[in-house]
Amino acid sequence: MPPVLFHPEHRLWLLRGATTAYAVRLAADDSVRHVHWGAALTLDQAVELVERTSPAASSFEAMADVDELAVEGGARFGPPSLAVRFADGTRAVQWRYAGHEVDGAHLRIRLRDRHYPLEVTLHYRIPDGGDVVERWTTVANRDEAAPVTLLRCDSAAWCAPHRSDYRISHLVGGWNSEFQLRRAPVPTAETVLTSRRGMTSHHANPWLAVDDGTAGEEDGEVWTGALAWSGSWRITLHRDPVGRLTWTGGFGHEGLTWSLAPGEELETPVFAGLYSAGGFGAASRAWHEHLRRHVLSHPDETRPVLYNSWEATGFDVDEAGQMALAARAAGLGVELFVMDDGWFGARRSEHAGLGDWVPNPERFPRGLGPLAAEVRRLGMRFGLWVEPEMVNPDSDLYRAHPDWVLHMANRDRTEMRHQLVLNLARPDAAEWTHAWLDRLVAEHGIDFLKWDCNRPFTEAGWPGHADPDRLFIEHTRGVYRIMDRLRADHPGLRIEACAGGGGRADLGILARTDQVWTSDNTDAVDRIGIQHGFGQLYPAQVMGAWVTDSPNVATARRTPLRFRFHVAMAGALGIGGDLTAWTEEELKEAAELVAAYKRVRPVVQHGTAYRLRGDGTLTAVQYVRGDEHVLLAWCPTRPYGHGPAPLRLAAVHPDAVYRDLDTGATYPGAVLRHAGLALDLPPGDHASALVRLHRVG
Ligand code: GLA
Repeated sequence: MPPVLFHPEHRLWLLRGATTAYAVRLAADDSVRHVHWGAALTLDQAVELVERTSPAASSFEAMADVDELAVEGGARFGPPSLAVRFADGTRAVQWRYAGHEVDGAHLRIRLRDRHYPLEVTLHYRIPDGGDVVERWTTVANRDEAAPVTLLRCDSAAWCAPHRSDYRISHLVGGWNSEFQLRRAPVPTAETVLTSRRGMTSHHANPWLAVDDGTAGEEDGEVWTGALAWSGSWRITLHRDPVGRLTWTGGFGHEGLTWSLAPGEELETPVFAGLYSAGGFGAASRAWHEHLRRHVLSHPDETRPVLYNSWEATGFDVDEAGQMALAARAAGLGVELFVMDDGWFGARRSEHAGLGDWVPNPERFPRGLGPLAAEVRRLGMRFGLWVEPEMVNPDSDLYRAHPDWVLHMANRDRTEMRHQLVLNLARPDAAEWTHAWLDRLVAEHGIDFLKWDCNRPFTEAGWPGHADPDRLFIEHTRGVYRIMDRLRADHPGLRIEACAGGGGRADLGILARTDQVWTSDNTDAVDRIGIQHGFGQLYPAQVMGAWVTDSPNVATARRTPLRFRFHVAMAGALGIGGDLTAWTEEELKEAAELVAAYKRVRPVVQHGTAYRLRGDGTLTAVQYVRGDEHVLLAWCPTRPYGHGPAPLRLAAVHPDAVYRDLDTGATYPGAVLRHAGLALDLPPGDHASALVRLHRVG
């Protein structure tokens, strides 16, 4: 059966995923309306749904069914997905169907305005084998003389079926507290999730999930979405008083405009949607699978155990100090050594040097060559921290090119962390940025870049440019282009996305990076919550997680080394402590824990993740790959005299038997499922366990 079916008489398209279906149709006025997003349907059943659509209740109500990309004009009163102003002031749009094409699983529906030469294509694609619907829009101005002002151009609008109630799950946070999962009823109102910061942001992540208030971790219907964009963005949910819930989303925040020049075409990023009938857990697993199969560039590669110098040295890096850390890191089994901030220009603090990407001659009198060689001699790969979009005013770059930063005439240039943002929408600034990165990577055979971005946009202007708002989109595209080019020219290069921790994690950046620095907060207790939120959408293999010193630099909390490791082992493990201050005993234990991680790493990084909630504060993630099961369980605190109840496992077959690879004990699957596994937790707070089970029959 083809993945896209068309019913000519009803002018209806049905897209079929592995277990779900998505249907749209052309209304009498040629606008594209939503029909179905959920369980699998036949074409005939989809037609039935259309015939049952009830008319609007009164002359004051909006039309009864929902647009796939609402415009202004007609009885439409919700947030428009596409808002335009033609040169003569007309804003309303009236469509005429201009045809459709099906190319494998990619459906394009083309519309033309009835009067003005504006064309829009709605794109739909369900990548092979999954249920994720990728949607995006292209809009073209075919006028030969007049521009069209785009006031809003979203990727897609989505519609949940009619339910008695709606709840939203989304991610909020800040620096050091990213990816906090929130669940709340959707108000009968418009609710906006957004970033106006020029980057994805710590404060909201472009992901959401909607259910009727009853879905659980492993049951119930969930409709979820994720935007593949790393600049400013906006998703607007609209629950209207008659009980419908829709959401529209795309790049740019409100108020930004784009003047679409004669002949110009604009393509939006993908806004992906996923329906799951298996609760939030199944939705996350389907997203993880989608990222692996269709977003990440190297999904089958196992992420190395890395060491990063930031928490050990701050800006105080030099050749001897880094070599001392590298020697200790190698002794622990680290595979990739990353030197963080402070290696270049006059960068002794936050105040100076960003933009001057040459090794500091006092700290590295022989350049980076000897350090890179020593790291390799120790058997590790070599990585470097860079912040290509930024400049300190106290730098040679800024002194030479003060006009390369985002700025506005007659306005202050607001500094944050004593830095300004380079306008990478400018071809000259982007070309210069690519050139130094390319040189640096080539000269030292750099294996890994931690690409940081430590402040949001302010006074985001481009004096002298006729359409300055477009820098919000073109800057992000500039970053993408530089990354894409570097990766094409240096196929061995791997990139970590960082923006003061997890300020830039999304499906757009993950198409050109390999992992994310999840948060600058490395406190293991706080990390449990951060990782819980992160994992709703992103798989373990992209979740950078370091073990650092105790007491923790951010929270001053003391936790055992084993607990810190067990939390960080849930992702791509790294070490970020001052190893020169660790005792022999700590180094020995750390080496054992790194070895333990390497044993479970294929299952953690490439397996399927089930979130488990135990008794009290006990939470766990169970990773499954073939017959291998790995359980990481964390119990930050517990009351007197009360050991947590056994943890009930997911994804075990009741008739199978499972052997604990460390103790040799065996358990029937039915017992693990219903009675649970009693964990061997050390006494006191910050207790944790790592369990490896193998299905033996
Ligand atoms: C950001 C990153 C940190 C570190 C510093 C260096 O805050 O998130 O990990 O690299 O910058 O200045």
